[in-house]
Amino acid sequence: MKLSGKNALVTGSDQGIGQGIALRLAQEGADVVVNYRKNQEGADATCEQIRQMGRRTAAVQADVGVTADARRLVEEAIAALGSLDILVNNAGIEKNASFVDITEEDYHAVIAVTMSGAFFCTQSFARHRQDVKGGGRVINISSVHEELPFPHFTPYCMAKGGLKMMMRNLAIELAPLGITVNNVAPGAIETPINKKLLSDPKLLEPLLANIPLRRLGQPSDVAGVTAFLASADADYITAATIVVDGGLLWNYSEQ
Ligand SMILES: NC(=O)c1ccc[n+]([C@@H]2O[C@H](COP(=O)([O-])OP(=O)(O)OC[C@H]3O[C@@H](n4cnc5c(N)ncnc54)[C@H](O)[C@@H]3O)[C@@H](O)[C@H]2O)c1
Repeated sequence: MKLSGKNALVTGSDQGIGQGIALRLAQEGADVVVNYRKNQEGADATCEQIRQMGRRTAAVQADVGVTADARRLVEEAIAALGSLDILVNNAGIEKNASFVDITEEDYHAVIAVTMSGAFFCTQSFARHRQDVKGGGRVINISSVHEELPFPHFTPYCMAKGGLKMMMRNLAIELAPLGITVNNVAPGAIETPINKKLLSDPKLLEPLLANIPLRRLGQPSDVAGVTAFLASADADYITAATIVVDGGLLWNYSEQ
């Protein structure tokens, strides 16, 4: 097992990709703190599966879009496991609205959860790793939309693009502390965030036609790469984005 003896926190791990990552890290031997905002049932179910693997775990309620909560989350995760080696910034939300219509409230919500949450969780994590002088791993679940425009989702693209530059800056700034910082950029993954898309063949079929591997991704596709980046196999990888999208981002052809 690649992560024996390591302690991890995964934000937004009560369902979807975050849940898949929490379970995969535990499978690889890590003890894992699960975070949720509202879905305690999902968080408890994730913890139960982690316990069944013989790993330590705890569920911590926190809204990462609120700075005080993001800081408390990292502190409670450290208290629950004794220390933290791995932080996965996964929590994120999107709002579908045209630029002229999006409300101030929705704009701030997307930026707060998807970008600022990762910023302040990482700041608390880096302070902790500085204190214990042990290196560490930060992995942000960004998106192909850290590069690719997505009309009607401008704050989401701004937040994911922000995560790209945060990752590149911190990879340099935190390198002297032995902390690597990388992004995993999923394409279209089958999770509750895509509920509308998944239930509407008129939306789903053109999307599948645009993915060279002709299928949606699964949370396990993202979780495997995240576990790799958290492991010693990735010791020399920092400032990188690994795209997990079945070829979607760079798909172009002419008949
Ligand atoms: N599913 C996709 O196609 C896809 C593609 C690219 C990137 N992503 C990214 O992957 C991440 C996970 O998305 P998902 O597809 O699993 O969606 P999801 O909606 O199933 O999961 C989002 C998770 O974030 C948590 N969350 C939301 N707001 C929060 C808050 N304020 N504080 C703490 N947790 C909060 C939710 O509880 C949930 O666990 C997101 O950052 C998303 O942008 C998803």
